[in-house]
Amino acid sequence: MPQTLICPEHILKTNLKDKTYIVTGGNSGIGYVTAEQLAKQGAKVIIGCRRISEGEKARLSILKAFPSAIIEIINLDLSDLNSVRNFVKEFLSNQKELHGLVNNAGVMYSPEGKTKDGFETQFGTNHLGHFLLTELLLPILKQSAPSRIVILSSCFHDKAQGREGRIHFDDLNFERRKYDGWEAYAQSKLANLLYAKHLGKKLSSSGVTAVSVHPGWVKTNLIRNFMPSWVQNIVLKPVFKLAGMIEPWEGAQTTLYSLLAPEVEQHNGAYFSQKGIYRTKDATKGGWPLHSPNPNAHDEETAKRLDEVSRALVGL
Ligand SMILES: NC(=O)c1ccc[n+]([C@@H]2O[C@H](COP(=O)([O-])OP(=O)(O)OC[C@H]3O[C@@H](n4cnc5c(N)ncnc54)[C@H](OP(=O)(O)O)[C@@H]3O)[C@@H](O)[C@H]2O)c1
Repeated sequence: MPQTLICPEHILKTNLKDKTYIVTGGNSGIGYVTAEQLAKQGAKVIIGCRRISEGEKARLSILKAFPSAIIEIINLDLSDLNSVRNFVKEFLSNQKELHGLVNNAGVMYSPEGKTKDGFETQFGTNHLGHFLLTELLLPILKQSAPSRIVILSSCFHDKAQGREGRIHFDDLNFERRKYDGWEAYAQSKLANLLYAKHLGKKLSSSGVTAVSVHPGWVKTNLIRNFMPSWVQNIVLKPVFKLAGMIEPWEGAQTTLYSLLAPEVEQHNGAYFSQKGIYRTKDATKGGWPLHSPNPNAHDEETAKRLDEVSRALVGL
């Protein structure tokens, strides 16, 4: 069993006072641990979440552990581009700086459906919502440089339950082919990786570093469309732990390393992976950074085309 990669302790002890971070989906799973750790280190953390009541619960829980934590909750539904625009408006009306954007929120294996703006749920939520959010926040990220963008992808960008990650430019929303929840997840997670790659190139001399991440197979609620979370997290936990499932704290390590380690600046656009399920045995142990074994993850033309298509789809 490959070892879990752990962020060096000194990085998790750096003083982040006067730094501001956004974590999307910070009310649950990996995002919650990420937000809590940043707040523990003294940063101001803005959690973007679609259920304010859950965000409030997360805020109170973090405050209970760290009473001096600075946490704000702002409504953000990534499956609704209007909500993304409103989130950015509210954020910019109160904040003068942004040192890190963590595009963490996500859905997996969603039933066939559309976002408010008519995009396939997973491509629309995981990629397009975050695409618009990032583009609207780029000016403040540049002004606040050095700053970071960390995008949660997945080892399933390579193959998700046997379906290869590929951007189907001719049918991004499954309108001309039969819907497949794993194929759609793989496409959305490859889009996350390619967008980080494109940003890395575009932002090379701006002081903004953008990377994508595979956090590992983490005990969270993400599984819910495939099996009830409690089956994975309680009933099958002993078996799944033996098979490589890790705790949310371990699952946040790749995000925190990518967000805070100084050496990551030398890898703009790269992919950082915890151990994962990949088509090649070499890749399974992960790597900070890791060369993805999916050939579709390395075509700069595809990354550029995805950027152009996404820009048009979100109305930029
Ligand atoms: N867990 C794993 O094994 C694993 C492996 C590879 C990659 N990842 C990636 O890691 C990221 C975090 O997932 P997790 O494992 O921590 O899962 P999680 O516990 O289910 O957290 C996902 C978060 O995303 C939020 N979210 C979902 N749809 C949203 C929307 N339309 N607008 C705003 N927020 C939305 C959820 O909000 P609600 O609480 O309201 O649902 C929740 O806060 C995801 O991008 C996922 O693809 C996870």
